Amino acid sequence: MTEQFDAVDVIRAKRDGLALSGPQIDWVIDAYTRGLVTDYQMSALAMAIFLNGMSRVEVAHWTGAMIASGERLDFSGLSRPTADKHSTGGVGDKITLPLAPLVASFGVAVPQLSGRGLGHTGGTLDKLESIPGWRAALSNDETLAQLEDVGAVICAAGSGLAPADRKLYALRDVTATVESIPLIASSIMSKKIAEGTGALVLDVKVGSGAFMKSLPQARELARTMVDLGSDAGVHTVALLTDMSVPLGLTAGNALEVAESVEVLAGGGPADVVELTVALAVEMLAGAGRPVGEDEVRAALADGRAMDVWRRMIAAQDGDPDAKLAVAKETETVVAGADGVLTRLDAYGVGIAAWRLGAGRARKEDPVQAAAGVQLHAKPGDRVTAGQPLMTLHTDTPERFARARQALEGAWEVLPGGAAGAGDATPGKLILDRIA
Ligand code: URA
Repeated sequence: MTEQFDAVDVIRAKRDGLALSGPQIDWVIDAYTRGLVTDYQMSALAMAIFLNGMSRVEVAHWTGAMIASGERLDFSGLSRPTADKHSTGGVGDKITLPLAPLVASFGVAVPQLSGRGLGHTGGTLDKLESIPGWRAALSNDETLAQLEDVGAVICAAGSGLAPADRKLYALRDVTATVESIPLIASSIMSKKIAEGTGALVLDVKVGSGAFMKSLPQARELARTMVDLGSDAGVHTVALLTDMSVPLGLTAGNALEVAESVEVLAGGGPADVVELTVALAVEMLAGAGRPVGEDEVRAALADGRAMDVWRRMIAAQDGDPDAKLAVAKETETVVAGADGVLTRLDAYGVGIAAWRLGAGRARKEDPVQAAAGVQLHAKPGDRVTAGQPLMTLHTDTPERFARARQALEGAWEVLPGGAAGAGDATPGKLILDRIA
């Protein structure tokens, strides 16, 4: 069969700063999925896109071509409207765990097709797999049945959704082309649009622990994704939220499940609750079931969200009452002097949790359920000399030294620091909203 285009011409056009045509984009994505365009050619094209960008029309076309590379789910037969959330990834970001059952408790179905962690940010499936018996792999029929019955599903995204993205993302990971706004936006949105949700709320993280280190970059990513979603008929809103400090007091799989259960029991750290409630309000409004913040908070306090959590875990063979794994070894990091904790860097804590065994370096590596970092203070807190600032958890104590190295320079206690003025000050978590 003669091919419509030549990969070299497509690469050259983007290298020279030209816009790719719709047919060129359709062809290159399809030919890459078929294995006709090689990894080295796609690497060159990804780098040309990284350097020269893509117009709004090109990004929309690129996203459409990735959606067309696989199947689309159809939730139109459900009796409830659907709403989903996507976070661009951060340290201690366990929000999906309390959020999915919370939103479902108001009659909106939450299909949360998730991934595993790579690098310093944790993966939702890794967290839930620390619950004994819990199963991530569901068939499409099981997903639909659970959405109708329980209202919330957190499961592995099947390989049928946007297979071109799966291949391209793995390539970008090893060719220094991940941090490109058009490539990130089309990667995330192709999966979300193919998934078939009616409403989508994006949590775009900003700061040291996130892909986007600055607010203008994060705004541009959010704008691109919101436009892609809206153009595809998905009601899409983005919140820009701080990721310079870890979310909550835990980073690590079982540690984060335990903290999420505290939130579902009406407690938990204020920042985790604030973000969970804000995202739930947006998801419910997007699904056409607007609910006020007080009513959403009430569903955490009175056990409605917890009831859905328990049913959601049990439906996937998990035991919501099982004891979570506890690390074999712990060490503490203590404050050297009296003062105020003025800085606690999300990236450093994320790397430490990863090195303790909470994350993986290669896709096939196992993770330790109990490994991670537990925080005892957040920026703005007054501390005294010798007071534990963090507890490091692992089953393999030879990992402590490398984890401590990651934390060097990641936190600071200043004698004259202002208490309560740190990064965790309430109100500084949600930085902007883009609709
Ligand atoms: N997550 C994705 O799914 N794709 C990206 O490109 C970045 C983060």
